[in-house]
Amino acid sequence: MIIAIDGPAGAGKGTLARRLAAEFGLAYLDTGALYRAVGVAVLDAGGDPADAATSERAARTLDLGLLDSPRLRTEAAGDAASKVAAIPEVRAALLDFQRAFAANPPSPCTGAVLDGRDVGTVVCPAADLKLFVTASAEERARRRTLELRGKGFDAIQERVLADMLARDERDRERKVAPLAPANDAVVLDTTDMDADMVFDQAVTLVRKKTIADL
Ligand code: DC
Repeated sequence: MIIAIDGPAGAGKGTLARRLAAEFGLAYLDTGALYRAVGVAVLDAGGDPADAATSERAARTLDLGLLDSPRLRTEAAGDAASKVAAIPEVRAALLDFQRAFAANPPSPCTGAVLDGRDVGTVVCPAADLKLFVTASAEERARRRTLELRGKGFDAIQERVLADMLARDERDRERKVAPLAPANDAVVLDTTDMDADMVFDQAVTLVRKKTIADL
């Protein structure tokens, strides 16, 4: 069972993906963390995340031990991630790792949930279930601001919204693997839903899919 979850920043993909992985005993890969780790590595080295050669080198020598670092969760890391993610060579360098994770999830899991921007369209086009999780920009900014404040960051909602809109535009407009729902994705607009409602709907979709495949 491979579940692909895509959508813009702050739509609730990560929360949903983690809960589905726990519910169905699946491995979880936050593919955005790969791009964030590349962005942070470039910034740490004093480089420009928009520079293709520097960012490709960082992607090819990525330290996977960085993926759980709280440093990846800052807005600066998200912004740098969105810039390195627009570089085709960076995407190519990270693709094999993501596909290998889906094909051979860490034992004892026999399936995986991956979330990101292009999981259903590029990384796992044959995923068993594809969800595109979205919400209004204002609601996403509100959630992200609360999340950042909860982590002790000093976040201003208007600023978070402006950064989010800039990042959305970059992710949607880039030439390679832009943010878009796959043709066969189920779109979940979570603007007026809480995390439990989103989870319940997704669980129903997974069970329907499992029964249909029996
Ligand atoms: O999901 P996130 O906010 O952690 O992602 C950070 C950035 O990484 C996002 O702005 C775009 C990029 N990204 C991508 O291009 N493709 C993915 N599969 C995941 C993330």
